Amino acid sequence: MSGPNTDFDPVEVAALKPEEVEAARDAALAAIAGAADLDALKKVRIEHTGDRSPLALANREIGALPPAARKEAGQRVGQARGAVQQALAARQAELQAEHEQRMLAEETVDVTLPTDRLPTGARHPVTTGSELIADIFVAMGWEVAEGPVLEAEWLNFDALNLGPDHPARTMQDTFWTDPAEDHLVLRTHTSPVQARTMLAQQPPIYVVCPGRVFRTDEYDATHSPVFHQVEGLAVDKGISMAHLKGTLDHFAASMFGEGINTRFRPSYFPFTEPSAEVDLVCFVCRGVDPDDCRTCRGEGWIEWGGCGVVNPRVLRACGIDPDTYSGFAFGMGIDRTLMFRHGIEDLRALFEGDVRFTAAFGAEL
Ligand code: DAH
Repeated sequence: MSGPNTDFDPVEVAALKPEEVEAARDAALAAIAGAADLDALKKVRIEHTGDRSPLALANREIGALPPAARKEAGQRVGQARGAVQQALAARQAELQAEHEQRMLAEETVDVTLPTDRLPTGARHPVTTGSELIADIFVAMGWEVAEGPVLEAEWLNFDALNLGPDHPARTMQDTFWTDPAEDHLVLRTHTSPVQARTMLAQQPPIYVVCPGRVFRTDEYDATHSPVFHQVEGLAVDKGISMAHLKGTLDHFAASMFGEGINTRFRPSYFPFTEPSAEVDLVCFVCRGVDPDDCRTCRGEGWIEWGGCGVVNPRVLRACGIDPDTYSGFAFGMGIDRTLMFRHGIEDLRALFEGDVRFTAAFGAEL
């Protein structure tokens, strides 16, 4: 390090010679002009203005000059350093601007380009819901049965003890098809699959039958001319209402969670005797303090479906001896069940096919 030098009084310091200073300045200016990008300029800056650069060394030597020589040398070095700093700043600004321009050009996104990403679909909640229901029964050893949606009038009605005068056979509820002599209907419930199963096999029978059904209903938040039901049928020796209750309690708990069981209210269906309406414990208030519950409207229970002990007349019509066998059956709306389970307020959401709705169920496989 050099510093004020009292006992040595050099007349000349090599680094401070005008040619040396000029050469150092010119070398710096040339390097600055030649720096092609910001990184290169950074290196140039260190090399030509850093602590070990010729001009910095020259600057340090000034203090060692005799006072008379200091002013001139100071000016020379100062000017050279100033020129270099200025050139550096100008080149820095130039390269910075160039860099920004290039980034803007390179990172341009053409928002008008067509996307190459196709929206992914999702399995429909009615499909996944039906499978979930079927799985609950398959896990108990039941089988899944299906039948056609265009069904014989006899299977849809007569076999199920729905005589020709039953209100459900009027034009009100049923989609009849032409020609009338074919006696075909769009099935109004999944119960004909019971009849088909019994006609095809002898007990023991344990089947669930999810499927699409049709009624001449208005399309609104709670009705649709096309909807889905699941039917259950068990026929075996010694089957009673108690088995029905236990099965439905298990079904309810599997769908809605532990503690959600069912109650039966006396009812009438031609194909069961005795018959009952099944209610679920309200899965929102759980029957505890239902007064403020909007879901069950203070009831503590929610209507779920119909059930009963299979009418011996139905067993007989389907070729099963009612003296040897007995059975239970039940049927409920799948759409309604899913509405409860997922808090879907409008039934139509299940039928409109809006993928934004369906996507939310996509992960539930
Ligand atoms: N089929 C009836 C309906 O569509 C539902 C039903 C009630 C099915 C009682 C059954 C049952 O199997 O036992 O309303």
